[in-house]
Amino acid sequence: MKVSIIGAGYVGLVTGVCMAEKGHDVICVDVDEEKIAKINSGVPSIHEAGLEELLQRNIQSRLKATRDFAAAIKHADVSLIAVGTPSDGNEISLAQVREAAYQIGKNLRQAAPYHLVVVKSTVVPGTTDEIVLPILEESSGRKAGLEFGVAVNPEFLTEGQAAADFMNPDRIVLGANDDPSMQHLDRLYAGFQGTPMVRTNRKTAEMIKYASNALLATQISFANEFANLCAGLGGIDVVDVVRGVHLSAYLRPMAMDGSRIQAPISSFLEAGCGFGGSCLPKDVNALIAHAEARGTPMPLLRAVLDINKDRPRQVLALLKRHFSPLRNVGVSLLGLSFKPDTDDMRESPAIPIIRELLAQGAILRAYDPVANPEARKLFPDSQLSLCGTLEEALVGVDAVVLVTRWETFGRVPELLAKLNPAALFVDGRRMLDKHAFARYEGIGL
Ligand code: UGA
Repeated sequence: MKVSIIGAGYVGLVTGVCMAEKGHDVICVDVDEEKIAKINSGVPSIHEAGLEELLQRNIQSRLKATRDFAAAIKHADVSLIAVGTPSDGNEISLAQVREAAYQIGKNLRQAAPYHLVVVKSTVVPGTTDEIVLPILEESSGRKAGLEFGVAVNPEFLTEGQAAADFMNPDRIVLGANDDPSMQHLDRLYAGFQGTPMVRTNRKTAEMIKYASNALLATQISFANEFANLCAGLGGIDVVDVVRGVHLSAYLRPMAMDGSRIQAPISSFLEAGCGFGGSCLPKDVNALIAHAEARGTPMPLLRAVLDINKDRPRQVLALLKRHFSPLRNVGVSLLGLSFKPDTDDMRESPAIPIIRELLAQGAILRAYDPVANPEARKLFPDSQLSLCGTLEEALVGVDAVVLVTRWETFGRVPELLAKLNPAALFVDGRRMLDKHAFARYEGIGL
């Protein structure tokens, strides 16, 4: 099919590249000239495993990037809206979605006789029906359902493995309210035989995305609430509690040969310093705000956020058992990104931890294998000194706090053992063996 993708950001670029790899003829549209030039020269504007190779294989044959909106829509049978929906802390902003819908609509007048517009951006349930569709109708002068189609197709890409997720999806959700739209969607995903597909209406498709992320966030806060209780009651280690829970056949079913298969969802049931990133906090906040504004409170999800917001304080409380006040105490943070294998610091728990430590007068340094440059954008040298190596981060500080589960931090026990006096080690993720340290504190202990 001929596909245009509006927005060549994280979701748009991965989708465009992978759709081209699947044999579609794709044009990515973006307003950012620099991004367009990069993509056209085979350089992805984001770092994702395997993406560069796929981009280089398809660019200038089945894939192009352009700023020319009109040409892209004219070329296509299907347009995907994959622009950003930034959060104001609670609600998401639909400015970019509205603008994309308006531009598509304007250009629909010259487009193929039947054109399908697909909302891929994450939008709260009802957005496509109540906002996108009317804008499209008004700016095109055409009637949705008859003269063009409107559909919803949420993405389920995990940062760091987005290209692989797209090429081998666990599910595909197709939301349409009429047959021609659904048939177009089916053709778009014809290359994904064997993948379970949920065919439903647009509003339900939007909801599936939110319910999926809300479940993950809930599991994380569930584990963290138990971490608090274990610490509060004393004499209980949340790591053993979680291990016991993980062995349930619900989470670790028995395979035919008697071996056990770990359900990946159990990796969202670990006590720690909280969830971050560009999706979970934003999506849960947006859903609650949307629900409350329409008269349905979501007390469970409210609690999920409250528990998460309190995680940095829990980490600081562990430090304060040994250093109170924290003024002039040398503290080193290990890990700054919101999760390992990315330099993304959006909503990372490291940020509130750093702010609070600074407010209390600690002397801070930090080390992250890749996120140091991101951290520099957020904190000046005078507030946070960034270390070039893990070794450097450990020498001469009073306490070391692990914030992100980077694999390389497996070396910390060995490195700390060589130092005299050894710093207090605070495990904010319960990643390392508590017996491997001379002085240790951990979440949920
Ligand atoms: C998340 C979901 O995992 C994807 O399924 C979803 O498609 C995506 O959002 C999206 O909406 O686009 P992502 O934001 O890339 O993906 O990050 P995750 O790997 O899910 O990590 C989320 C956060 O939870 C990280 O900060 C991680 O450190 C934290 N986490 C995870 C915990 O605090 N505890 C856990 O037990 C597990």
